[in-house]
This record gives sequence, structure tokens and C-alpha cells, in this order.
Amino acid sequence: MRVLLTGAAGLVGRPAYDQLAEDHDVTALDIRPVDGVPDAVEGDVLDFKRLLEVMAGHDAVVNTIMAPNQSYADNGPGFTINVSGLYNLLEAAHRSGIRQFVHTSSGAVHTGYPHEDTRYTHDLYPLKAPPGYALSKLLQEEMARSFHEQHGMSIACIRPWSIIDTQRMVTTDGKPVNSYSWGTIDCRDVASSLVRALEAKDIGFECFYVMATDEAYERTDVAWTEERLNWKPAHRFDPQQKP
Ligand SMILES: NC(=O)c1ccc[n+]([C@@H]2O[C@H](COP(=O)([O-])OP(=O)(O)OC[C@H]3O[C@@H](n4cnc5c(N)ncnc54)[C@H](O)[C@@H]3O)[C@@H](O)[C@H]2O)c1
Repeated sequence: MRVLLTGAAGLVGRPAYDQLAEDHDVTALDIRPVDGVPDAVEGDVLDFKRLLEVMAGHDAVVNTIMAPNQSYADNGPGFTINVSGLYNLLEAAHRSGIRQFVHTSSGAVHTGYPHEDTRYTHDLYPLKAPPGYALSKLLQEEMARSFHEQHGMSIACIRPWSIIDTQRMVTTDGKPVNSYSWGTIDCRDVASSLVRALEAKDIGFECFYVMATDEAYERTDVAWTEERLNWKPAHRFDPQQKP
């Protein structure tokens, strides 16, 4: 498949590039250079015309773009980058005849529910999320659903919780990992779930929790993801243990 991977320089995007490139013809796009990928396209997801040019000739899009964590407060640009940016990607994909889309969502779409009383599942609706980053992720999923319903596009949304890079022991913001949470997952395992979702044959619009602790298997339906996508995290974490 000819795949456009957006956000390819990121914590998830970079390993997703390597894993996708094993079996697919991948174009990497990011607003910054992608380490080790000299032919990556530099582009802003808010530049719709540029996206249309880049998308031509692809069969599928895998999106891992996220605005930086500090850009959501005080009506900063983060919300617009996530929401208008995904709209641009979906619309450009539709106009380019692309039928398959995999989006990196987040468990944040359910953080408006009381944490202790809620079992987070792929079919828990309505989504509920507080303002800021979480609300932008909720709106992204609803927009994706709408593109599926309006245009019949196949769209899978992957919902990680707390992503770390165990090779460098850092978070997305580059902070050192001092402890694991109940929702910890390694970035390579998020990447492999994106690949499995891309390669799954029968997806209309579906969402998938991905995490890698025992508690996450109790509190979410990540076991359902394993079965549905034939996916398993290679790394498991115990929040009682220090890294
Ligand atoms: N990091 C986490 O703990 C976490 C948890 C749950 C869900 N997620 C989701 O996972 C996905 C990947 O997150 P990540 O941790 O790899 O983030 P990241 O910040 O490491 O990567 C995001 C990439 O998007 C790029 N980007 C930002 N603005 C852009 C723009 N305007 N145009 C083009 N590219 C742009 C950045 O340069 C970066 O390389 C995101 O959708 C995020 O919401 C992350």
C-alpha cells in the first residue's frame, strides 16, 4: 500500500515509519525534519493545498500529529492544529480518493467520566471530555466518524493513554520516566497497533484501546483490541515497580 504517515517525526510516528516501511511504500510528513528519513516531506497540517498535493497517489493515511502539550492553554494554537488539522487531512484524503484512514486518538475522549466508576470501552458513548487537549481528541473522533458516515471511508481510531519510549526512558515532552501509570504503553506498541489497524480488512468506523498494564486490561477492553486486530503489546508494565 502507498501510505502517507503524518507526524512522522514524533514519539509514535518515528517507530510507525519503520514498522510501516517493512511492507508498505511510506511517505513521511511532519512540520519538522524526520530523523533518518531524508526524503520526508516538510509540511504543516494546516496547509490544505499542500496536503492535497502530497496526498496524490496514496492509498491510505496514518495520522499521528499532535500539537505540543503546552499549546492548548489560554486558547493557544494546539486546539486548532488538532481539530482543523484533522479536518484538513480527512477532507484532502476524501478528495484524493483515499478510502482508508488510521488516526491516533486517545483515552482522553472518556476523561469526562468519573475515573473510579468507569470501564473504558471501544463502544462507550457519548464521549465525554473536559476542555483543551481532551476535547480536541473527542472532536477529532466525532469528525472521523462523520467522514465514515458521509463518505464510507474506513477509519480506525487507536486510543492510547500514557505513551513512553522505553529505549530512551522519556515521555513525549522529553521528560524522564520516573514511574509507570495504569495506562502506560511503549511507543513501538502504539505504532504496531496502527499498522495492524491499517492492515485489518473489515473496518468501517472503529475505536481501539491500547495500553499495557494488568490494571488497563481490567479497566478497559484492550483485550478486545488484541482479538480484533491480532495485536499484542511487546512490553508490559507494572505501576508498582520503579522503572
Ligand atoms: N504522548 C502520549 O502520552 C499520548 C497519549 C494518548 C494519545 N496520544 C496521541 O498519540 C499521537 C502521537 O503522539 P506523540 O506522543 O507521538 O506526539 P509527538 O508530539 O511526539 O508527535 C507529534 C508530531 O506531530 C508533529 N506536528 C505538530 N504540529 C504539526 C503541524 N502543524 N503539521 C505537521 N506536523 C505537526 C510534531 O512535529 C510531532 O513530530 C497524538 O495523536 C496524540 O494525541 C499521545
